[in-house]
Amino acid sequence: MTDMLDGVRDHYRATGLTERLKTALAAFGPEDQRLMPEQLGALDQFHTRGLAATAELAALAGITADMSVLDVGSGVGGPARFLAEAYGCRVTGVDLSEPFVDAARYLTERTGQSGRVSFETASALELPFDGGRFDTVLLQHVAMNIGDRTRLYCEIRRVLKLGGRFATFDVVMGDAVAHSDGPHYPLPWARTPATSFLLTGAATRAAIEPAGFRTLAWQDDTEAAKAWFARLRASDPPPSPNLGVVMGPDFPQLAANLGRNLTEGRLGILSAVFEAA
Ligand SMILES: C[S@@+](CC[C@H](N)C(=O)[O-])C[C@H]1O[C@@H](n2cnc3c(N)ncnc32)[C@H](O)[C@@H]1O
Repeated sequence: MTDMLDGVRDHYRATGLTERLKTALAAFGPEDQRLMPEQLGALDQFHTRGLAATAELAALAGITADMSVLDVGSGVGGPARFLAEAYGCRVTGVDLSEPFVDAARYLTERTGQSGRVSFETASALELPFDGGRFDTVLLQHVAMNIGDRTRLYCEIRRVLKLGGRFATFDVVMGDAVAHSDGPHYPLPWARTPATSFLLTGAATRAAIEPAGFRTLAWQDDTEAAKAWFARLRASDPPPSPNLGVVMGPDFPQLAANLGRNLTEGRLGILSAVFEAA
């Protein structure tokens, strides 16, 4: 297990990330100038369809101001900052990657949200919280890095209140994969198959429900994702700073491969919301 997590950590090692962000963010103004969370959207929403996908998932989950939300695999914290700004809720993020957590804290100071949004370095398989602590748990583009789905979904259920919501937005194995040699790598979450643990949508649901969940919403978002990648291909490169600062200069190639796999039916995108039963 540790070896597997080390491989995932290595993929997101992002050496010197906070320093690189400080340099890149000079484009928005001096260090002491407060940033708006949406200004960071090109670099801090590390999933298909960016900020729009986070906003849609939050609406589907029914987040409200009085909620305490946990974002599992929070990356550099964009979804957490968006939720706190849009809904006024409190958000805690946990992530395996220490450089990402460090960067998430730095960016949250820059947006002036540190009172409402916090981050901790931890594994999704061992969440550092008492049971029944959160009203909502979010998991966006993280499960494909995790082989032990039973443990993942049981941990999420453990930290949720009874009746709480679990909202997931993830990459799943497409129907065509069964008849092919698998997805093309490198991908944004894994440069080789060694740290990629994809399930079909049906297998994902079959892993989540026995952990103590009832399905409330189930949406195949593959077509929307394909259209988004088609627009991306037809447009100029995204303005800087973008996710290239976080993941390195090959990020456009990783993202393009995800788009190609979606087009070929090797991968799909799923949004779903569950109630803790
Ligand atoms: C593709 S990024 C998505 C980040 C964020 N959810 C977002 O949408 O902006 C995947 C994230 O999951 C984290 N991750 C992967 N495996 C994890 C685990 N076992 N526990 C906690 N975080 C993990 C990675 O470090 C990375 O930050």
